[in-house]
Amino acid sequence: MRYAPNDLENHWMPFTSNRDFKNNPRLYTKAKGMYYETHDGRKLADGSSGLFCVPLGHGREEIARAVYEQLQTCDFSPHFQVGNPNSFMVASKLTRILPKGMSYTFFTGSGSESIDTAIKIAMAYHRAKGQGQRTRFVSRERAYHGVNIGGVSLSGMVKNRETFTNTMSNVVHMRHTWMPKENGYTWGEGAHGVELAEDLQRAVDTFGGTTIAACFVEPVAGSTGVLVPPKGYLKRLREICDKNGILLVFDEVITGFGRLGTAFASEAFDVIPDIMTMAKGITNGAQPMGAVSVKDEIYHTINSASPEDMVEFFHGYTYSGHPCAAAASVAVLDIYEREDTFAKSTKLHDYFRKKMMSLKGMDNVTDIRGYGLMCGIDTKLSQLQGTKVTYANDIHVKFTGPCAIVAVPLVADEGFIDEVTDKLRLSLK
Ligand SMILES: Cc1ncc(COP(=O)(O)O)c(C=O)c1O
Repeated sequence: MRYAPNDLENHWMPFTSNRDFKNNPRLYTKAKGMYYETHDGRKLADGSSGLFCVPLGHGREEIARAVYEQLQTCDFSPHFQVGNPNSFMVASKLTRILPKGMSYTFFTGSGSESIDTAIKIAMAYHRAKGQGQRTRFVSRERAYHGVNIGGVSLSGMVKNRETFTNTMSNVVHMRHTWMPKENGYTWGEGAHGVELAEDLQRAVDTFGGTTIAACFVEPVAGSTGVLVPPKGYLKRLREICDKNGILLVFDEVITGFGRLGTAFASEAFDVIPDIMTMAKGITNGAQPMGAVSVKDEIYHTINSASPEDMVEFFHGYTYSGHPCAAAASVAVLDIYEREDTFAKSTKLHDYFRKKMMSLKGMDNVTDIRGYGLMCGIDTKLSQLQGTKVTYANDIHVKFTGPCAIVAVPLVADEGFIDEVTDKLRLSLK
């Protein structure tokens, strides 16, 4: 297929150098297994699982069939005072992999919507408990919590924030946990930096613990370049939250569904949050869908604050629990369970780590870190240079600024990891 520049002009692309792209298009027209095919017929190894959302690889027939059949059976159903069985099935299946006591799930259409939903759940919960004065939120520098106003307010990546200055003003940012001098080229949790969790204590000491509603963190900060927390850091955040009645929210949009080898990062780090946001792997990227799971006490507290014939939580999206997205999710959760995807993927962890770390020493590489099947490689390239050079070398890798974020599908094998490493090596020369 050929595209004249005018065919591309009208789409204002997200997070893209639009003018450059339209002079120099990179279109993915087909996807199967662990490969994309481009408009000019080249095959690209998918080194980032799309945007970290295709753990089972592309084009799984079972998922496609579930969506197609759902489209023919009941293409859309609202979920305001009525419902469709599929989303109930997803919520109930999720309880099998969520931490115990976290058995209620609210559906959204994306990770960004999940974050804004979690912010509102935290507000509603405290208000229901008579603690409406808890209006402050704590998050972290270099955090990525999506692009809606709530999520941008929590986020800590400068380019995503500096244009949009009038966001939520009641957010305090802890320091990020990247310590290149102390923890450079470390795989897994760094030995140094647990004291960074005391930034939450400082917020408590400065503003008063009773004014803080929730602390949001990505267990491993993903989009900013895979920043793994130091040993003991998340446990310490949990302690400070417990002591001060602050809700701990884990944004598991990337870390959820096996990326670290467990269903959720919560299990990998043995820390249970009060609220968990997710998206991406919930449908293997085949349909837009997000979710927010909460501890039972949060659901019951919000519900019991109003009479039984009232709407308890005035929030929801037209596409909350969309039947086709939910059909995809049921199929995906079935595959994860039947194929034991998360546990099986851990057999690749060591190999992936070794291959990624083998890029250390290249002139263009300044740091490498990771956990499970997720790796951040800091380079001397710009985002656009990195995107172009990897594309030219037949590999898809998501760059955030100069950092290449590698996240192979959970169903990859050693041969595929070799291919990704070789193509990266070539690109980073
Ligand atoms: C941790 C985290 N939260 C939220 C989001 C936003 O998700 P979405 O792009 O589906 O809105 C992302 C996206 O990458 C993410 O990585």
